[in-house]
Amino acid sequence: MLASNAVARTVVVTGCSSGFGELIARTLAASGYRVFATMRDMQSRNAPAAQALRDWATQRAALLEVLELDVTSDTSVERAINDVVSRASGIDVLVNNAGIAATGPLEAFSMAQVETLFGLNAFGPLRASNAVLPTMRAQGSGLIVFVTSTLGRVLPRRGGLYASTKWALEGLAESLHYEVARFGIDVAILEPGSFPTQAVAKATRAERQEVVQAYAVAAPPQAPTQPTSRGPHELPHPQEVADAIKQLIEMSAGERPLRTVVGPVFTEGVAEYNSSYQRVRDHLAEVLRRPDQAITWTRPNS
Ligand SMILES: NC(=O)c1ccc[n+]([C@@H]2O[C@H](COP(=O)([O-])OP(=O)(O)OC[C@H]3O[C@@H](n4cnc5c(N)ncnc54)[C@H](OP(=O)(O)O)[C@@H]3O)[C@@H](O)[C@H]2O)c1
Repeated sequence: MLASNAVARTVVVTGCSSGFGELIARTLAASGYRVFATMRDMQSRNAPAAQALRDWATQRAALLEVLELDVTSDTSVERAINDVVSRASGIDVLVNNAGIAATGPLEAFSMAQVETLFGLNAFGPLRASNAVLPTMRAQGSGLIVFVTSTLGRVLPRRGGLYASTKWALEGLAESLHYEVARFGIDVAILEPGSFPTQAVAKATRAERQEVVQAYAVAAPPQAPTQPTSRGPHELPHPQEVADAIKQLIEMSAGERPLRTVVGPVFTEGVAEYNSSYQRVRDHLAEVLRRPDQAITWTRPNS
């Protein structure tokens, strides 16, 4: 928790019209942070969601403002981040939460759909990060959280377009982690398992439904699934994700884990996988210091 006399830390969250984003914004604002809850289409389609957040904040005198931010637009991202920086004189935390799922086999998506989904799920968070980095570098501090997915790490004999965008995002986030640590900026990746939000309802459907059908018809027969004892009251709650983000924010700078897995469903073994990846990575980093392993990138005649 922040000390009662502390200046509220400034947090920007993307994709706050529903799901994790909305809960992250409320959870942090309820804990005394100054939250800029951002969403796209705030004057039109998402106007009720924006108003609901504003009303919630007014009732609690919470420091929460709603701003327009579409992660796929340079202009929108720059405008929102400039607005935050001028009003709050800095940014302590960016939570890259906005993202959309997709259903259908890879072949069934048009290339325009593929580019749009990568543009949103992978390049959107990079765009938002690039917008806050000059401020964080000047401050010599900051935290950027990337909400990826356990599907961005392990493909349980299925994957697809959504998973591929999250693999790309994992690569961008981990690379950024190595690059910006020298400025005192932390990067943390949050990998939720499966949670009941509007993600499925809002998912992009593959355009070529005849291809979807062909894959469905040719699907290998499935073994009957085990009956589950899990009732609706035992569904995982998306609040777990908001709480995990708050925990990350409240850890000491420089000590936050690169990856955190959250949730009881679709998470088994992923934290262990991350630990063994870390061992291989650290070993390889050491091996690459040996002269016989040096990677030479220079052109022969340069
Ligand atoms: N639910 C899960 O099981 C699960 C698991 C792992 C990871 N995740 C990830 O968690 C994040 C949040 O998802 P959720 O489950 O909370 O689903 P959600 O309720 O559908 O939330 C997704 C949010 O992203 C926003 N968004 C989409 N495109 C945007 C854009 N161009 N600019 C700004 N915001 C945009 C959506 O806004 P609109 O209403 O305007 O579309 C919505 O607010 C996503 O990155 C998702 O991939 C979810």
